[in-house]
Amino acid sequence: MNYQILKINISDRIAVVTVSRPAALNALNSDFFKEMNHFLDDLEPRDDVKVLVITGEGKSFVAGADIAEMVNMNSVEGSAFSVNGQHTFDRLENLPIPVIAAINGYALGGGCELAMACDFRIASKLAKFGQPEMNLGLIPGYAGTLRLSKLTGIGNALYLILSADTISADDALRIGLVQKVTEPESLIEETMKIAARIAANSSQSVPVAKMVIRKGVNIDLTESSEFVASEFGKLFDQPATKEGMKAFLEKRKPNWK
Ligand code: CAA
Repeated sequence: MNYQILKINISDRIAVVTVSRPAALNALNSDFFKEMNHFLDDLEPRDDVKVLVITGEGKSFVAGADIAEMVNMNSVEGSAFSVNGQHTFDRLENLPIPVIAAINGYALGGGCELAMACDFRIASKLAKFGQPEMNLGLIPGYAGTLRLSKLTGIGNALYLILSADTISADDALRIGLVQKVTEPESLIEETMKIAARIAANSSQSVPVAKMVIRKGVNIDLTESSEFVASEFGKLFDQPATKEGMKAFLEKRKPNWK
């Protein structure tokens, strides 16, 4: 595919996808979703990519869904636009490999929802967060209502969505919406360091940890504990697990290959 909006760079087991439509502050239109789904179709079967990083070009991460595309939609089209975005974000959340949002600027509306579909978020000090859909007579359409409630608690979700307030990266850190704040110029470097640390871990246990956490928050403690025990046990049949524990006992670094 000839990508027009996504810039894709894959090296050293890390894929970096930059949303690049700076004239519209990287607003998400149908072409973005086509390109992202195409990229995910290519990525899913690959086993040489261990971490995906998503960032934005210019002063914005993503300033929301494309208002110019939505303005003339009717209810059926609006609903389809929402389902299409949700489906794409679910694919990101369910990717076996970790997905990190490196938030360089505005993460508003659908942009904040995209960031929340990632496994964790690292933000530049200059990033701004919010769900400003109320200003448009809308509500968040890409499942941000639920993800924001889960990440930050229902009070913060209601506050942010009902007030349409925009908050700073430090406030986003305080409420658990982001996990780390960096100087603007070191955002990508710091994100890549974390991505590299994850990529260097056992590729057997990283996807299992992600799956167990992701699935575990949607089931009760008993079911979650049984699930963890089963997945924990399965890892003991993996040579990488034996290697990891032996390496510790032999006081050396594990060789995952
Ligand atoms: N959709 C379409 N175009 C957008 C956009 C969006 N979400 N956000 C910004 N743009 C465009 C602007 O229209 C403008 O285009 P022109 O130069 O052609 O006029 C360009 O990007 C630059 O934007 P501004 O001039 O507004 O830049 P600014 O620095 O003055 O303000 C901003 C930045 C505060 C982010 C402001 O652009 C803004 O408020 N954007 C809209 C944010 C928003 O409401 N997002 C939610 C969208 S709805 C949604 O996402 C629903 C959902 O859940 C599915």
